[in-house]
Amino acid sequence: MDALELLLSRISVPALTEPGPTHEQYQTMIQSAFRAPDHAHLQPYRFIRVAGDRRHALGKIMLKAVLERDPKISEGQQARLLKNPIRAPELLLPVLTPKEHPKVPEVEQVLSLGGAVNNILNAAHAMGIGAMWRTGLICYEPSIARDLGLAAHERLYGFIYLGAPAGNRKTVEAINPEDFLSDW
Ligand SMILES: Cc1cc2nc3c(=O)[nH]c(=O)nc-3n(C[C@H](O)[C@H](O)[C@H](O)COP(=O)(O)O)c2cc1C
Repeated sequence: MDALELLLSRISVPALTEPGPTHEQYQTMIQSAFRAPDHAHLQPYRFIRVAGDRRHALGKIMLKAVLERDPKISEGQQARLLKNPIRAPELLLPVLTPKEHPKVPEVEQVLSLGGAVNNILNAAHAMGIGAMWRTGLICYEPSIARDLGLAAHERLYGFIYLGAPAGNRKTVEAINPEDFLSDW
């Protein structure tokens, strides 16, 4: 696929099925992440893969985090939370590993992480892998970070769901570039 065609056709794919990406495909996705713009080349992120039964363990720590905040959520909500990570064969969790730098505030490192994740989504699309980036307020709960083994200064920025696209590809409305472009 031509590079521009690729960029213009990427969509998020919520319905995902087996198989997950291969080892080589992960290598490509991670390499692409580190081609995002990165001020001072700080490499301020890392990625955690969650596959197979570990997805159930992830569901449990998601539920635990929510229950700590709101012990009264219904059994239905609890069951949904447990199942969230099972929506895809594998997940890749982007983690900010912020670095102290006199010229690079943390916000720039978060922006770079966004670019890195977008590169992963585009690389996945290029390889025929379906992907969707989700956060949900739950990902900012301190107990999730602790249960994932993140260091105190690290922060989780969501869950990239990965797998083979299932179901029909959604259609997206083309935007009018003129609506978002002006001269000064
Ligand atoms: C940082 C970030 C977090 C997101 N979190 C969620 C989420 O928790 N749930 C959700 O349905 N979509 C979430 N989205 C939006 C989807 O990833 C996706 O962009 C959106 O559904 C639009 O689809 P598209 O990518 O095909 O245009 C998030 C997007 C970003 C950038």
